[in-house]
Amino acid sequence: MKLIHLTDLHLVPPGAMLFGFDPADRLRETINRINRDHADAELCVVTGDLTDEGDAAAYDLLRDVLQELRVPTRLLLGNHDHRGHFIKAFPDEPCDENGFVQSVHESSAGRLIFLDTLVEGFGHGSLTDGRLEWLLARLDEVQDSPVYLFAHHQLQPIGLPHFEPWNTENWHQIMQAIVAVGNVRHIFHGHVHVDVGGSWRGIPFSASRGVAHQIIPHFTRRDADFVEDAPAFDVALIDDDGVLVHRFEVSDRNVVAVSEAGPLLGGTQ
Ligand SMILES: [Fe+2]
Repeated sequence: MKLIHLTDLHLVPPGAMLFGFDPADRLRETINRINRDHADAELCVVTGDLTDEGDAAAYDLLRDVLQELRVPTRLLLGNHDHRGHFIKAFPDEPCDENGFVQSVHESSAGRLIFLDTLVEGFGHGSLTDGRLEWLLARLDEVQDSPVYLFAHHQLQPIGLPHFEPWNTENWHQIMQAIVAVGNVRHIFHGHVHVDVGGSWRGIPFSASRGVAHQIIPHFTRRDADFVEDAPAFDVALIDDDGVLVHRFEVSDRNVVAVSEAGPLLGGTQ
């Protein structure tokens, strides 16, 4: 299965700007690139911070811009989002029985689980108020099958002091429970605006710096420098044997300088 992972769009209402740029333009450029090179993807998952301040007009704009994307999408909420405004703009996005934007998608590679870590009015994440119980029930339903998780907030440490106040508050409890069930093969998340991947007690994870502004990672400082780098997105290739995550940036650097033919097998590259 080919899957697109987008994150942190931070759209603002039409006519407004964010840090001097228009996040919708960056999303349009990204969509053009996906349509050109990856229209065969099975699904595109956007892991939250769909908008910067949760404005209803920004969700309406997002709905309009996403009309251009040729890949089916699933949308998650981040700490910059507003659950009510989102549900009003996207009434067909499924919710769990408690009204959280959590759902399951049975893909050709296995079960995908979309989590809602938003705590409205705060920057940190959480899977409280029945959300963790919902996740564990969905994992238990397919104990012997591979599962892939999607969340806005990181569910594991990422080694950057800046994000410590903005972690998922019950992350350790969540990760211990996930490890105990044993069927999660990868966690895709957003929130951190840096390129990062790794594993926690054997559970792999990945996040890209996202479509909007990015952060220069510092490993000792608590403050952060925000920069406008090229928008980025991930393409995941998933099969029975594993998960590959390729990172793409949307920039002129992707213009081909030379095309080189090579052997299909046994090459030296
Ligand atoms: Fe964000």
